[in-house]
Amino acid sequence: MASLLTKPLALAGAAIDRVPVVDAANALFDRLPERAAQPLATPPPGSGLEPVMGDPSVPYIGRTLGFLRHTLEHCGELYDRFGSISWTTAFGTKMVLVLGPEAIGTVLANRDKAFSNKQGWDYLIGPFFDRGVMLMDGDEHLQHRRIMQEAFKRPRLVDYIAQANDTIARGVASWPNQEGFKLFDATKQLTLDIATEVFMGESLGPEADRLNHAFDDCVVGGQALIRHDVPGGMWHRGLRSRRLLADHFRSQIPAKRAGDGNDLFSVLCRAETADGERFTDEDVVNHMIFTMMAAHDTSTLTLSMMAYYLARHPEWQERLREEAVALGVDQIDYANVDRLPLMDLCFRETLRMNAPVGILGRRSVKDTELDGRFIPADTQLLIGIYPSQRMEPWWSDPHTFDPERFLPERAEDRSHKFAWAPFGAGAHKCIGMFFGTMEVKAILFRLLLTRRFSIPDGYEPPISYGTGPLPADGLPITLSAL
Ligand code: HEM
Repeated sequence: MASLLTKPLALAGAAIDRVPVVDAANALFDRLPERAAQPLATPPPGSGLEPVMGDPSVPYIGRTLGFLRHTLEHCGELYDRFGSISWTTAFGTKMVLVLGPEAIGTVLANRDKAFSNKQGWDYLIGPFFDRGVMLMDGDEHLQHRRIMQEAFKRPRLVDYIAQANDTIARGVASWPNQEGFKLFDATKQLTLDIATEVFMGESLGPEADRLNHAFDDCVVGGQALIRHDVPGGMWHRGLRSRRLLADHFRSQIPAKRAGDGNDLFSVLCRAETADGERFTDEDVVNHMIFTMMAAHDTSTLTLSMMAYYLARHPEWQERLREEAVALGVDQIDYANVDRLPLMDLCFRETLRMNAPVGILGRRSVKDTELDGRFIPADTQLLIGIYPSQRMEPWWSDPHTFDPERFLPERAEDRSHKFAWAPFGAGAHKCIGMFFGTMEVKAILFRLLLTRRFSIPDGYEPPISYGTGPLPADGLPITLSAL
């Protein structure tokens, strides 16, 4: 009897989450007529607030597929119809989409504590990244972040990047000169190797593949349409992978606590604040799973998209190469990472165009307002960093790669305090910002010094969505000797 029920469910779970199914359904939904605008909720009388307007789209599925495959188009359409705050259905529930730096800033600064990170992210990825620091609120978050901060202080960063440089040199040297080299896939492997060595303090060898898949399953698990533990579905795979990762980290804690390693895992095991606060074993497991994910996908996306833009704009690639050669060193470290201003312009522009954490989750914990619109308590919000960083009037010609927009004389990033926010802002601002920046620049530096990279005329990667926009085809580029 059980199999009569589970088998069809398993097949449905496995089928509905597949890319071709997603694309076909998307095409179908795109042809549906536009729905009439509806208010999300009635504002309290006398509040002077307007209701959030939006459309429910297709029941349950709503715009899930559209957000995953055509994020910019769907967010742009909602912005044009309803302004900075709108609502729709996605991922099985009503969602309020927050666009533009003014409203985004209000949510991220969270001055009146109206928005919860825990509840916002829980709905999207909670079962896979439970009790990671990003999924905590208030005093508990502050306490955990304080302990974690010990692992991101300057001496630690100096050490991490020195260790990472060996892995980077070996990794980039092993990439073959060839056409159609899948840069995204290779970068993903390299950043996992770096995270494995620098954060876990070990060379995993064959185990690395298993863990890499497990991290992936956890990330995409949150995008499942069937948001239940149905065998064969993405949600199910995410849960299974979470257990695998937890067992892996848990088994190593005694040795890490006893040792004197300088990897992140060891540091988290021993980290203690001036007040004597420390992590329990389960805290360490939860923070390692979240941090490994946070470190790995974000850097992969940034590096591969940056290389893509430089392949597409060879004049920028040459300028960056000249700048790198002029530095007169083989690898960059903590001390000289700031001496590459052109690389920094391209780094910032890549993060603007392709924010690797493209949409943030939040949930309102009390009645509040955004841009004069009434947001009732217990509303799920999507904070659109990626779409907002592609919008006028804050950015001129926003879909064009133009690193010089960050030069002091143009300073488009100053159009609003929260116009450029790829690392977030407020209490949850990325703790790995300096490490991530150094890592991406160090890999690109080696690539520039050793290879030329190009793409065929007119090639543009098909964009899918992980933690942010990603090249769905593995980003085939041509690598050649200098
Ligand atoms: C280019 C690279 C990166 C980008 C664009 C990025 C982006 C972000 C963003 C937007 C947030 C805020 C999420 C929110 O407000 O809900 C965040 C948080 C976080 N990131 Fe990153 N990240 C990057 C690299 C890294 C790296 C390398 C690490 C670890 C070594 C890391 C660890 C974290 C952690 C632990 C948090 C949670 C902080 C908290 O909630 O207090 N990130 N990141």
